[in-house]
Amino acid sequence: EEATAKRKDDHLDLCATGDVEPAQNSTLLECVRLVHCAMPEMAVEEVDLSTEFLGKKLRYPLLITGMTGGTERAGVVNRDLALLAERHGLAFGVGSQRAMAENPQAGATYEVRQVAPTLPLLGNIGLYQAVELGVDGVRRLAEAIGADGMALHLNAGQELTQPEGDRDFRGGYKVVEGLVRAFGSRLLVKETGCGIGPEVARRLVELGVRNLDVSGLGGTSWVRVEQLRATGVQAQVGAEFSSWGIPTAAAIATVRRAVGPDARLVASGGLRTGLDAAKVLTLGADIAGMALPLFRAQQQGGLAGAEQALATILTSLRQALVLTGSRTCAELRQKPRIIVGELKDWLAAL
Ligand code: FNR
Repeated sequence: EEATAKRKDDHLDLCATGDVEPAQNSTLLECVRLVHCAMPEMAVEEVDLSTEFLGKKLRYPLLITGMTGGTERAGVVNRDLALLAERHGLAFGVGSQRAMAENPQAGATYEVRQVAPTLPLLGNIGLYQAVELGVDGVRRLAEAIGADGMALHLNAGQELTQPEGDRDFRGGYKVVEGLVRAFGSRLLVKETGCGIGPEVARRLVELGVRNLDVSGLGGTSWVRVEQLRATGVQAQVGAEFSSWGIPTAAAIATVRRAVGPDARLVASGGLRTGLDAAKVLTLGADIAGMALPLFRAQQQGGLAGAEQALATILTSLRQALVLTGSRTCAELRQKPRIIVGELKDWLAAL
């Protein structure tokens, strides 16, 4: 238990100030250009980005993706960011509930319902911890925090870079099958910064998974975070693989093409602005996800800091709609977009 809590705080320190993102342009969102409309013929206040997620209404198609829990500091992060999400009509996810599974007393640090009674809330557990806990154990974690759905995270790259991490990745689809039976359309499968590609996505959807978060390359890299903590072989190999993954723009576009219109798709991994969010919506995402920028704003400026970061993102997202002449996400998707450079190669190959 203590090892898990200590690791969590190491992770938070590294993410708050460390160099945990790959070189710029790894998302390949800079290969996407939206087309300016000189005569928008609409008011900013007409922009309506409302959508649905886990059976609830969102005012913005945004998810603050799962980050933390298990320590006092993590509890403050969860409550501040959940409060913000509730206030603005976004969805929110807690981080891995492993610490809570190991020590029920840590449960309070994941509880956000007092400050966020109505928002769509996701629990979170790793694929291989789900094996240990069993379907009932995972269900109890979701119920304990009043979650609307459960996020199952995939992190093979991170595990391989952790000296104490998993080395055997067999049987994963079987675990997913069991969780689909338990959670149905309330299960979301996500990566953690290396991306889900079209082949894996298709297989997951065939098993009945209805929500995917591609969490692609370009933002927080968990290989990089672990590499910064590792020594010896793991540190070296981790450095080699610190830009490993499917760029977020490539992941979301190819996954949408592979799974068709029915699955709910979240695109996260390196989104830093409202314009980035607008771009992933045009590439096929239903919802844009962000973790690091809001975490960092909260760590530096508390709730007020996070509020300002979010205000900037929402203003930019609305502006992107106005300047493309779109009132809704559906209208935005109808607009032409230009795809250049390396992203074109990914779309041709996958
Ligand atoms: C994460 N992420 C994460 N994901 C998950 O499924 N369970 C977790 O416990 C965590 N923990 C976590 C902590 C911190 C501090 C960060 C920044 C991120 C991954 C996160 O949900 C997301 O998939 C990636 O970080 C990519 O998005 P960003 O950070 O580039 O916006």
